[in-house]
Amino acid sequence: MDLLQRCLWSSLGVVALVYVLVKFSLGYWKRRGILHVKPKFLWGNISEVLRGKKHVQQLLLFLYESYKGRAPFIGCYVLLKPFVLVLDLELVRNILDSDAGYFTSRGLYNNVAREPLSGNLFQLDGHKWRQLHAQSAPAFAASNLHKLLPQLLKTSRTLQLELGVGKQDLNVSQLLDCYNVESIAKIAYGLSSEDLSEFSLMTRSYWSNWSLWRAYLALELPLLARLVRHRSYSQLAMDYFHKLVEKQLQQQRKRDRQPLQSFLQLFDATDEALTDAQIAAQAFGFILAGLQPLNASLAFCLYELALQPELQDRVRAEIKQVMKATEGQLTAEGLKQLSYTKQVLNETLRLHTPYPFLLRRATREFELSNSIFVIARGNNLVIPVAAIHRDPTIYVKPERFDPERFRPEAVLKRPGMSFLPFGEGLRGCIAKQLAEQQLLIGLVALLEHHKYEPSADTQIPMRYDPGKLVLMPKTDIKLSVQWLEPH
Ligand code: HEM
Repeated sequence: MDLLQRCLWSSLGVVALVYVLVKFSLGYWKRRGILHVKPKFLWGNISEVLRGKKHVQQLLLFLYESYKGRAPFIGCYVLLKPFVLVLDLELVRNILDSDAGYFTSRGLYNNVAREPLSGNLFQLDGHKWRQLHAQSAPAFAASNLHKLLPQLLKTSRTLQLELGVGKQDLNVSQLLDCYNVESIAKIAYGLSSEDLSEFSLMTRSYWSNWSLWRAYLALELPLLARLVRHRSYSQLAMDYFHKLVEKQLQQQRKRDRQPLQSFLQLFDATDEALTDAQIAAQAFGFILAGLQPLNASLAFCLYELALQPELQDRVRAEIKQVMKATEGQLTAEGLKQLSYTKQVLNETLRLHTPYPFLLRRATREFELSNSIFVIARGNNLVIPVAAIHRDPTIYVKPERFDPERFRPEAVLKRPGMSFLPFGEGLRGCIAKQLAEQQLLIGLVALLEHHKYEPSADTQIPMRYDPGKLVLMPKTDIKLSVQWLEPH
C-alpha cells in the first residue's frame, strides 16, 4: 500500500470515528427516552445562536413556548453537550430551593492553579464553593451595605455632575459603564478616583481572548482544557487585578482603625481568614458577575422611561418627595420608601433580564416526585428565566413595560419562581441587596434633576447583542437628556 492510500484510509477512519462519536453524543436523549428537540449534526440545537442570528434568550423562549405543558423538562443539546431544559415552575422550585442540595454546582470552567482569579464564587463548584460561600456571605450583610452607602452616594453625585445642565444627546451605555466601574473600583477594591483609568481599561479588556469555541471546549472537556493550560481571561488583566489587590491589602493592613469603605476590608476580616488570592478572586467576582448586569439594568430602565414619559414623571415625583423628606441626603430609610421606583426596576429586570438563564449541574440523581422522570447525576440544567418572565399565562401582554405588575397585591397573585432575575436559593446572587441598592441610587442621581427622551439615534425597538450571553443592547443606548431647572 503506498503512502497516499494509507493517508486516505487513515483520514477515512478518523472521519468515521468522529461521525460515530458525534452521533453517539447526539443520541443521548433518544437513548433515555426523553422528549427532546431534534439536534442538527455537530450544532445540536444552537446553530442560529452560534451564527449570530438569534440571541440565546430568543431560542430559549421559542423552545419554552413550543414544549411547555408537555413535560416538566425536555432534552436539548448545546453543540454535542446534552442539557435538561426545565419547563415547569414546580421543578424550578425543586432545583433552586427545596432540593437545591442535589444541584449545588453550576458546571462552569475554572482552573485556580493556573488562573487564581477563576476561584471566585460564580465559577467555583463543590466543596471549594461551599467553603468560600460560607466565608464570604457575611460580608454582604445589610449592616455592611448601610456602612458602604456614603461611598456609593459619593460616586452617584459624580454621575449627576456628568449629566450637566442644558440639553444634550447622550451615550447612556457609556456613561453608566463609567458609573458602575467607578462604584466597583471604590466599594470592592477601595480605589480612589485618581486610580480609575487603568482599572476601567482592564474591566473592558479582560475578556479579550474569549471565544465561544474555546469556552465551549473548556466546558465540555475541562480536563483537556487544564492539560493544554487554557486561560479564560487575558493574562495582562489578571496580573493587574491580582497585584492591585495585593497593593491595596498591604496599604490597608498598615492603617490602624479606619471606617468601612470597601469589601476588601470585609473579606480581610472574615472569621476564617481568606488568603490574598481568594480575596483577589472575590473582588474580581464584582467585575465578572456584577458589572454587565448593572450596566444593562440601568440602561434598559432609562430607555423604557424615555419611551413612557408619564412613568418617568411619576418616578421623578417619588424621588423628589423622598429627597425632600430626607433633606436632600439619601439614606437607607429613604431608599426603602422608593417603592414605585423599585417597581420600575423590577419591571425592567423582568422584561430585559440581564441573565436570561440559570445553570445548574446535578451532583446526585434526582427523581421527580409523582413522576417517572429522573435527572441523572452529571446532567447539566438550564432554567430559561427570561422565557418565564415573558410567559403570557403569568404576565399578561408580556411585551408591554408595565410597572403595575410589581404592585405588592399583583406580586402575591403570581406563582412562586416566576420572577428570578437574581436566581434563587443556595446559588442565587450573593450581592442581590447590594445590586438593588446601587441601581436605586443610580436611578435617583439620573432622574432627580434630568429628563430623558428618545433622540434620532435611539434604536427602537430594542435589539439585543446576539454575541453576548448577558443581555445587552446590540448598539449603545443613546438618548436625549435635559436638565430640569428647579422652580
Ligand atoms: C443587576 C445586577 C445583578 C444581577 C441581575 C445579578 C444576577 C445574578 C444571577 C442571575 C446569578 C446566578 C444566580 C443563580 O444561579 O441562581 C448571580 C450570581 C452571582 N452574582 Fe449577581 N447579579 C447582579 C449583580 C451582582 C453584583 C454587583 C455582584 C458583586 C459581587 C454579583 C455577584 C454575584 C456572585 C458572586 C454570584 C455567584 C453566587 C454563587 O454562585 O454563590 N452580582 N447574579
